[in-house]
Amino acid sequence: MTTRHAIVGSGNIGSALARLFARAGIEVSIANTRGPASLGPLAASLGSGVRPVPLAEALESDAIFMAVPFAAVEQFGRSLPDWTGKTVVDTTNAHYSPNSAEVLRGRLSTHYAAENLPGATVVKAFNQLPANTLAAELDPEVGRRVIFIATDSPDAGDRVADLVGDLGLAAVQLGRIDEGGRLIQAPNALVLRNLIERPL
Ligand SMILES: NC(=O)c1ccc[n+]([C@@H]2O[C@H](COP(=O)([O-])OP(=O)(O)OC[C@H]3O[C@@H](n4cnc5c(N)ncnc54)[C@H](OP(=O)(O)O)[C@@H]3O)[C@@H](O)[C@H]2O)c1
Repeated sequence: MTTRHAIVGSGNIGSALARLFARAGIEVSIANTRGPASLGPLAASLGSGVRPVPLAEALESDAIFMAVPFAAVEQFGRSLPDWTGKTVVDTTNAHYSPNSAEVLRGRLSTHYAAENLPGATVVKAFNQLPANTLAAELDPEVGRRVIFIATDSPDAGDRVADLVGDLGLAAVQLGRIDEGGRLIQAPNALVLRNLIERPL
């Protein structure tokens, strides 16, 4: 069965992701709080593969990119009573959000996200680069931009890694959230690293 992808959040990072999907010719739904009409100009610029939908419809997808501000994670989590069967890709960076230390109380931000998404399989990815860098086209002869992935579910890590490849990027799996995931929690070592995998 084909995986249905959705992006929730149409700001900097949601739009960058939509651009990557459009460029790769992979269908994706996109939603925000304001409804599909607000997404008309973005969708028109990216073509029919990027489909503006109401939030409820986006949440019917199998793999959902959570591209909302860290401060909105709790509210986003309440969008569904049970996230079982969903893979949620956490693109958020708590570090740049005021009061995040008080909210996290020592937890990793992706563990906090998972607590707010009961039942979901959570994968941290696509958070390490500025949105405009993430979306910038790269000549394949130069190489493929590296996307780091961390998750406690090896199967979900493999699925997201395959998608990263299909988007024309190079996946580097870092293992569990409390291991490699720590390295891609801002401001840790692998954040804001714009690495390019060169052809061998
Ligand atoms: N900006 C970057 O370069 C960058 C890079 C890496 C990671 N990130 C991370 O990515 C996340 C998003 O950042 P951003 O810069 O893209 O933010 P942004 O431009 O402010 O966009 C946020 C989007 O989230 C939507 N949203 C907010 N609460 C929501 C909810 N409860 N349900 C559904 N949609 C909701 C907003 O909807 P409306 O449009 O309707 O208001 C908006 O489209 C942040 O956690 C940030 O740390 C950002």
